[in-house]
Amino acid sequence: MRIELPKYAERFGAVLLHDVQKVYELDGGYWPDEALSNPFHVIRHIEAEKLHQIEKDLAIIIPTKNERLRLLEGVLSGLPHDCLPIVLSNSDTEAIDRFRLECQTVENFCCYAKKKYLIMHQRSEALADLVKNGGYTKLLDEHGLVRNGKAEGMIAGVMLAQLMGKKYVGFVDADNYFPGSVFEYVRIFSAGLSQSSSSHAMVRIQWHSKPKIEGEGLFFAKWGRVSRISNLLLNRLISQYTGFETDVVKTGNAGEHAMSMELALQMDYSAGFSIETHHFVNLMERFGGVNVLPEDVPAMQQGVYLYQIESRNPHLHDAKEDGHVEEMIHQSLSVIYHSPLCTEVVKSEILGELRRLNILKKHELPKAPVKYGSLQFFDFDKTARIWDPVKYGNTQLV
Ligand code: GDD
Ligand code: MG
Repeated sequence: MRIELPKYAERFGAVLLHDVQKVYELDGGYWPDEALSNPFHVIRHIEAEKLHQIEKDLAIIIPTKNERLRLLEGVLSGLPHDCLPIVLSNSDTEAIDRFRLECQTVENFCCYAKKKYLIMHQRSEALADLVKNGGYTKLLDEHGLVRNGKAEGMIAGVMLAQLMGKKYVGFVDADNYFPGSVFEYVRIFSAGLSQSSSSHAMVRIQWHSKPKIEGEGLFFAKWGRVSRISNLLLNRLISQYTGFETDVVKTGNAGEHAMSMELALQMDYSAGFSIETHHFVNLMERFGGVNVLPEDVPAMQQGVYLYQIESRNPHLHDAKEDGHVEEMIHQSLSVIYHSPLCTEVVKSEILGELRRLNILKKHELPKAPVKYGSLQFFDFDKTARIWDPVKYGNTQLV
C-alpha cells in the first residue's frame, strides 16, 4: 500500500492527532522502492510483508444486530485471510433464531476459507461468565448478562481478542455492501498501525464518500449527518485549549477504526453509539496532560498517536431510520458535554446545536453517558483459566 505522509499534526498534551492521509495505491508493489528513499518524498510505501505481519496479530471485531446474512458473509470475504474475525452478535434468538443462522453462515464460510473465527452472542451466559470472572461487572445488567448496545459488544470483543493473544484490534460494521471496501479498511488499519513508533496507536477511517440516490442519479456525500456536527465540536474543544482554531478532527464518529491492544486496554469506554466520539474525548482526558493519572505516565512518555486515513472506496451500508441518527447525535455530543474537559463555551454550543435540531427542548440538558472503566482492571489471568474458545466461542481453529 502507498499512503500520503500526514501534512501536519495537532498536539494535545501527549496525543498527536495527525491530519488525514490519502491512500495513493491500494497495492503499493511487492519490492522496496528506491525512489522513496529520497527525503523529500511525500508518499510512504508500506511493504506487503509488514502489512501481513500486523494482520496475523489483528482481530477484527464485527458487531452485528439482525443484519442481512449476505452482508455479514460479504464482510468476512473482504477480510485479509490472516486476521481473526470475532463476530459479536446481539441478533434475535427467539421466533426465527437469527443468531443460529449467523453461526451457520460464519462456520460455513470459514470452513471453506479454512479460516479461524470466533462468534459469540452478546447476551449469552458464556460471555457473561467470562466478564464476571474478569471482575468487569459494570458491563453486566440486572440479569447478569452483557448489556445491550454496540459499544458493549465492542468492549466484549476487545476482551475476546486479548484472550486470543492478539496485539491489535480493529472494528468493522456488519452492514457493509462492499467486501472490497472492507478489505481496504483492514489494509488501512495495518498500514496506519505500522507507522507508529509508540505502542499506543489508533487508526480511523475517513470514508472517501457515502453514495446516496438523489433525484435520478447518485450523489457522493462526503460527511455523514452525525460526523459533520461531532467533528466541529471536537475541533472547537481542542481549539479552546490550544488557542488556535483547528479542523484536524475529521473522523469523530468513525465506526471503522483500529487500535493497538495496549491502547484498547487502557482507554475508558462509553455506551452505545457514543463510543467513537468518546475515543477522542477520552484520549484528551487520559493523555492530554490536564489531569494526569500515574498509570498513564508511561504511555504519555512514548506519545499516543492517532492517524486518520481516507479510503478510496465509497462506503455503502444499510440505511437506518432518522430517529437513530438523532439518537447518535445526542449520544455523541453528550460525551463531549459531560467531559470534565468541556468548557462553558463548547457546552453552550452543544446545547444550541441539540436545540436547533429539536433533539432537546429549551430547558433540557444532554443525558449523561454511561461509562465503562479501562480494561486494565480486568483480571485476564482469572478469565484465561476458564477460557476455552472451542467450548465458549463457537470457534473454528484450523
Ligand atoms: N453486537 C452489537 N450489539 N452490534 C450492534 C448493536 C448491539 O447492540 N447495535 C448495532 N450493532 C451493529 C450493527 O448491526 C452494525 O453492524 C453496526 O453495529 C453499526 O450499527 P448501525 O446501526 O449500522 O449504525 P450506523 O450505520 O448508523 O452507524 C455506524 O457508523 C457511524 C459513523 O457514521 C456505526 O458504526 C456508528 O458507531 C458510527 O459512529
Ligand atoms: Mg450502518
